[in-house]
Order: sequence, then structure tokens, then C-alpha cells
Amino acid sequence: MALVEETPGPVLSAINLGYAYTSKGFALRGVNFFVRAGEAVGILGKNGAGKTTLIRALSGLLTPNQGEVWLKDRPLQNYKNSELYRTLGLVFQNPNDQVVEFRVLEDVLFGPKNLGVDPLKAKGRALNALKRVGLEGFEERLVRTLSFGEMKRLSIAGLLVMDPSVLILDEPTQGLDPAGEVAVMRILKKLAKSSNIAVVVTTHNLDLAASFLDRVYLLDKGQVLAEGPSDSLLRDEGLLKKANLRLPYVGKPFSSLKRQKGLSWPEVPVTLKQARAFLKWLFYSNSNPSGASRSTAGEKGSAQSQA
Ligand SMILES: Nc1ncnc2c1ncn2[C@@H]1O[C@H](COP(=O)(O)OP(=O)(O)O)[C@@H](O)[C@H]1O
Ligand SMILES: [Mg+2]
Repeated sequence: MALVEETPGPVLSAINLGYAYTSKGFALRGVNFFVRAGEAVGILGKNGAGKTTLIRALSGLLTPNQGEVWLKDRPLQNYKNSELYRTLGLVFQNPNDQVVEFRVLEDVLFGPKNLGVDPLKAKGRALNALKRVGLEGFEERLVRTLSFGEMKRLSIAGLLVMDPSVLILDEPTQGLDPAGEVAVMRILKKLAKSSNIAVVVTTHNLDLAASFLDRVYLLDKGQVLAEGPSDSLLRDEGLLKKANLRLPYVGKPFSSLKRQKGLSWPEVPVTLKQARAFLKWLFYSNSNPSGASRSTAGEKGSAQSQA
């Protein structure tokens, strides 16, 4: 019998979501959304676009006025709180909101303890969760002595210990230094790829989104403007402008040169990896490394295909 590999169905999805805080206008309108196991998906948009509102609806913190959210095989409202808490983890924007105990290990044990998990088993799971966020050796540290980045990772560990299917994070890189931003995004990507978790993050950091997320939704005024693979969507300058966003920084010099000089280059790179491949192509795929004659992309193939 032939085995056919199927794309896994969504773990979490929303159909035609609408929500209004006041009678003055919608914070969400006609939003369709899904995320599969093993995917890292971004919800991107400027401040006030509706990102936090959407993830509050996706995680059951608010009930939409219209539409439905499904988690695995049934609507969110058919879940008991304890089951929802085990299946879907939400990391708030401010990690201090989630820290409840004094020492790191105790803090991570809070969830399993509450659900009555066997203490020995819970400890094993907590140590494993700390390891997965790079906090091995921090077990006995006082939570208040952690850096903001470590605190952020601790709040992720506090959810991982529950072995969730979905992890949702509101602006997980906000307030972190550049190394901290990359560390958190690497952890999230790894959790999606190695642990098969469906990861959802909101962000307005397009540079990180292009490099670390598989797929993104562009949100503007509570509506989804577009959805697609992050690298192709995030080089569509017209679309980004509509959402009041910009091209990832690494693409800007390539884009303006292309426009000013009328160059018919291959697609503008939007990640460092793509930019490196592009520059290699530019310098080395012609006998004249100055690249003066490089005006048509078609002759030389695409930089992307050489990435
Ligand atoms: N509690 C609230 N009461 C009234 N309006 C709100 C409330 N929270 C958010 N809003 C409004 O809803 C819209 C979307 O906000 P939000 O989801 O926080 O956006 P984002 O997270 O993308 O910055 C904004 O216009 C905001 O002012
Ligand atoms: Mg927000």
C-alpha cells in the first residue's frame, strides 16, 4: 500500500472572528486564522492593529462577538479550563505577570502541582522544560535575580512543563536586547521543529519575523490583509505599506538600488542568509566581479535558488 504523506490539519483555527470592545468600532473583523503542529506563525501589524485582541480570542481570554475558535477537534468553549490550560499556553507581554513563586524550579512546578501531577514526575518535566529554554543550572536561583530575557524564557518553561500543543506569545521579543531577541526566537523555532508544537507569536519586528517564522498574517485595523510564507510576504513592499509596516532592514539597500537603477535583479533578500546568497551571486557568478553588467536576473538564475 502506498503511503501518502498528508499535510497535518490545523491544531488551532479561527473562522470569521469579529470582536468589538465598544460600540464605536471593531477590533477584529472577519479574521480567519490557522496554525499547524510544527509551524511557527506570526501575527504582524503596527500598534493597535488588533494583535493582542486576536491572541486573546485564540486563547479563550475573550469571547468573540462573531465566529468561532477551534482547538484540535472542537470549539474552544467546549473545553474545561484545566484541559485548556494543559493544551494551550499563553505567554503575556510582561513576563512579571506570570511569575508566581520565588525560586526558578518552584516557579516552573507551579502548573503541574496545581493539576496534581506526581511530584517526582513533575520535577523531571520541570527540569526538562528549563533545559529546553536554556535555563539549565538556574533551578535554585531567585526569580527576582533573573534578567528580563531569562525571565521571559522562564515564563516559556512554565508552559512547556504542561506539554502543550499550542504556545502563543504576545510580543515575545519586546524589551530584549539583540542577543536576547535572537535567543528567544531560536528557542521558539526549535520548539516548533523539534517538539512539534504549534507556535504563534505577535510582533512588529519584521527582521526577526522574516528569519524565524514559517508563515505570517498581516493584520491591519482588525483585518487580515494577507497571509503567506514569511519570506515571500515580507518582501512585498506594496503590501507592507498597506499594513503600515516596512521591508526588513537587510532588504532596504537592495530594494532602493533596484528601484533607482532600474535593475532587474532577482527577488530582494529579506534575511541575512538570503542577503549573503545574493551577494555571492552578485560577486562570483560573473567573470567580472564588479557586477557592472549585472542587469538581468534571468540570465544568471535566482539568488534564492542558490541559497
Ligand atoms: N480594553 C480595551 N477597551 C477598548 N478598546 C481596546 C481595549 N483593548 C484594545 N482596544 C483597542 O482595540 C484595538 C486593537 O488593540 P490591540 O489588540 O491591543 O492591538 P495591538 O496588540 O496590535 O497593538 C485598538 O484600537 C485598541 O485601542
Ligand atoms: Mg498588543
